[in-house]
Amino acid sequence: MKKPQVFVTRKLTDEVIAMLEAVATVEQWTEDYPIPRELLLTKVEQADAVLTMLTERIDEELLTRAKHLRIVANMAVGYDNIDLAACKKHGVIVTNTPDVLTEATADLAFALLMATGRRVTEANRFLLNGEWTSWSPMLLAGQNVFGTTLGIIGMGRIGEAVARRAKGFGMRIIYHNRSRRHGAEEETGAEWAGLEALLQESDYVLLLTPLTEETRLLMGEKQFGLMKETAVFINVSRGGTVDEAALYNALVEKKIWAAGLDVFQVEPVPLDNPLLRLPNVVALPHIGSATIQTRTEMAKLAAANIALVLKGEEPLTAI
Ligand code: GLV
Ligand code: GLV
Repeated sequence: MKKPQVFVTRKLTDEVIAMLEAVATVEQWTEDYPIPRELLLTKVEQADAVLTMLTERIDEELLTRAKHLRIVANMAVGYDNIDLAACKKHGVIVTNTPDVLTEATADLAFALLMATGRRVTEANRFLLNGEWTSWSPMLLAGQNVFGTTLGIIGMGRIGEAVARRAKGFGMRIIYHNRSRRHGAEEETGAEWAGLEALLQESDYVLLLTPLTEETRLLMGEKQFGLMKETAVFINVSRGGTVDEAALYNALVEKKIWAAGLDVFQVEPVPLDNPLLRLPNVVALPHIGSATIQTRTEMAKLAAANIALVLKGEEPLTAI
């Protein structure tokens, strides 16, 4: 019998490829940039499985070409790059990589929160520019972190993991989510709040919601307008959840104090995006889950899902 074929859209470690080679013939795109769309469309024609990144759009056009496809294993927790309805229609299973990235992503969210509140990257630029001429009472003075109020929009597993960290920082935690999270409330003392109240009361507003039709441009002029002038906005979800022009205006007009962004409307973010020129913006290149250990676990989980489906078994983390 012909071995099934797997197409992997980025270079992964030998260990991960070996997991796939145990059950299939594997082909990989090994350049360090996303595979051109046209080439991907031809590669999927023979594929029984694809291991994808969030840079690949999996839609009706691709699925129509991929006549043998049984599973799309996305190496990310988010899956807004995948048309789930179209996959269902074509009988293609979709999996993501939850859980294994929860703690690393919560660490990055908290690192970004602290870096933005305490002006860490701005202070580093200041020093490197030779501007540090003396100690000064209010030099690079930021906002308190310890003992302040954290508002989390989108209280999933990552939100809960951030709340555990915030508890250690003596923070009051409020959250907004479609459903109440009683476990997190008991463990961290987090309180559910309406979106408006959360925006009004928080010193740090952390956006962690997945990108869906409901959350697209969730943060706009009105929402930033509700925040405190001393408040810090952090986005570790998807750039599509934020109206970047409204965020820019809120920062320039000092309606809010600073922003920490790991995600952007367009990624890689063009260097002429005006947000990047603001001293009170800490910008990162979508590195939420980027630790060596976590990215390895994510790749292995995606490979394990493919191996199971190709053997006719249930995947570990189907969506
Ligand atoms: C990264 O953003 C992910 O969804 O895993
Ligand atoms: C969502 O899947 C999360 O882990 O927050």
